[in-house]
Amino acid sequence: MGSLTAARIAVRAQLKWTGTKRPWFTYRCSSPLTAAYCRFLSTEPQRTTDGGVPCQDPNLARDSYLHINNTKYPIDSWTNVPSSILAALPRRLHLEPSHPVSLTRQLIESQFPPPIYTHYNTLPPVVTVAQNFDSLGFSPDHPGRSRTDTYYVNKDTVLRTHTSAHEADIFRKDESDGYTISADVYRRDAVDRSHYPVFHQMEGARMWSRRRVLGNDIAMAVWRDLEQVPRHGLKVEDANPTVHPVRNPLQAAYHSIEEAEAIAAHLKRSLEGVVTTLFSRAREAAIAAGNTQIDVEEPLKVRWIEAYFPWTSPSWELEVLWQGDWLEILGCGVVKQELPISAGVPDKVGWAFGIGLERVAMLLYGIPDIRLFWSQDTRFLSQFSSSRPMRRFVPFSKYPACYKDVSFWLRSSSTSAGGGSRINAQNFHENDIMEIVRDVAGDSVEDVKLVDEFSHPITGRKSLCYRVNYRSLERTLRNEEANDLHERLKAHLVDRLGVELR
Ligand code: DAH
Repeated sequence: MGSLTAARIAVRAQLKWTGTKRPWFTYRCSSPLTAAYCRFLSTEPQRTTDGGVPCQDPNLARDSYLHINNTKYPIDSWTNVPSSILAALPRRLHLEPSHPVSLTRQLIESQFPPPIYTHYNTLPPVVTVAQNFDSLGFSPDHPGRSRTDTYYVNKDTVLRTHTSAHEADIFRKDESDGYTISADVYRRDAVDRSHYPVFHQMEGARMWSRRRVLGNDIAMAVWRDLEQVPRHGLKVEDANPTVHPVRNPLQAAYHSIEEAEAIAAHLKRSLEGVVTTLFSRAREAAIAAGNTQIDVEEPLKVRWIEAYFPWTSPSWELEVLWQGDWLEILGCGVVKQELPISAGVPDKVGWAFGIGLERVAMLLYGIPDIRLFWSQDTRFLSQFSSSRPMRRFVPFSKYPACYKDVSFWLRSSSTSAGGGSRINAQNFHENDIMEIVRDVAGDSVEDVKLVDEFSHPITGRKSLCYRVNYRSLERTLRNEEANDLHERLKAHLVDRLGVELR
């Protein structure tokens, strides 16, 4: 495999994602379990002179359990879920009737009708590490498993990082040949206008049973079913062969090439149908809003790109040409047979896909900032309705940005090796900065960017400078407020990460 392909695969294989609003406070606690909870950064807690440990959240520090949906989860040294994330669990935007995330979910769901497809929309968000990663064939050292990227309830339990966490269970239930799942998912990630630590995904799959298909002629059965999937007027670029021995292999132990070809064709036409449904409405809405960049005569264009996911092969991403840019919309592939085998349905073969709902809703409605989805402001919510055609979002204001920089030295790894309790240049992860910013300033921050980085030529110590853009979506922040937030941010960086401000 070429190193570029390997690097792309590594990057793509990495679970990407996001951070939220939460009150700021500091609490000292001394019980070993709550101290362990305090390690909700990827680092050890700071020991203070009185032997206490500063906790971010007194509500959570009160006992040794996290209480989620009437279940008590013991806290341990892996626990890193902040209370702001717990507070978001009941929101379930994908189920709020006229919310754009829910409208997007409904549009996609309409492409996968019962009885072939069952729709699961209320699966609980706490899953085991086995469900989220092992059942899907994630390698033991996959970066998505790290505490810098994933919210651990405890060592064995996480907030799902993707809806694929339920694939094996739904295969095991075997209630229908196809299904969709929509749900809230959780990832530690950057702070910017397209990332938030809670977001929503939709998953779908279509399987065929070797036991139920006459003469085991799966290819024939799939081609026949493809006739029922509506054709569309999209212009499709699909430059690569269905399988490639290195980049996108056939599962030769389980599928004939004819079967893989048929399943891929069914997958592709089904998902092209999803894109047609979504983007033809978005085009109508953009034209109605007076967007003259859109050529009404030009058909929508999509393209298939080879991809990698641990539980599908071959795999693809689907991109859409939207206002001059190719945008990645979804990931999909032929389900690796180990998954149905371990789910007790070895006779089933088929395809699966996953799509991020906020990302699509932002494109469809022209929503410029992911924080808006969490707004309870009627100026936002009243713009969407299930009972009228899709309309572009009309921004109700743009409040002034307020940029502030913070520069600090990381400890050199040798300095902290003995003390061992804080971050240093080696174990530093940017998501820890992002989480502290969200902790302190919540939705009053629009984005955080690394603007400077260097190592001292003599001491070798590393210095970083981050630029924080304080801007609320709902009002103008007063300068004193932004200053106050920034001062608190600096204090937290020192307290929780042990950095030295410059
Ligand atoms: N779970 C993947 C993600 O979060 C999306 C995905 C890709 C789901 C391929 C699938 C799939 O079911 O086959 O990025």
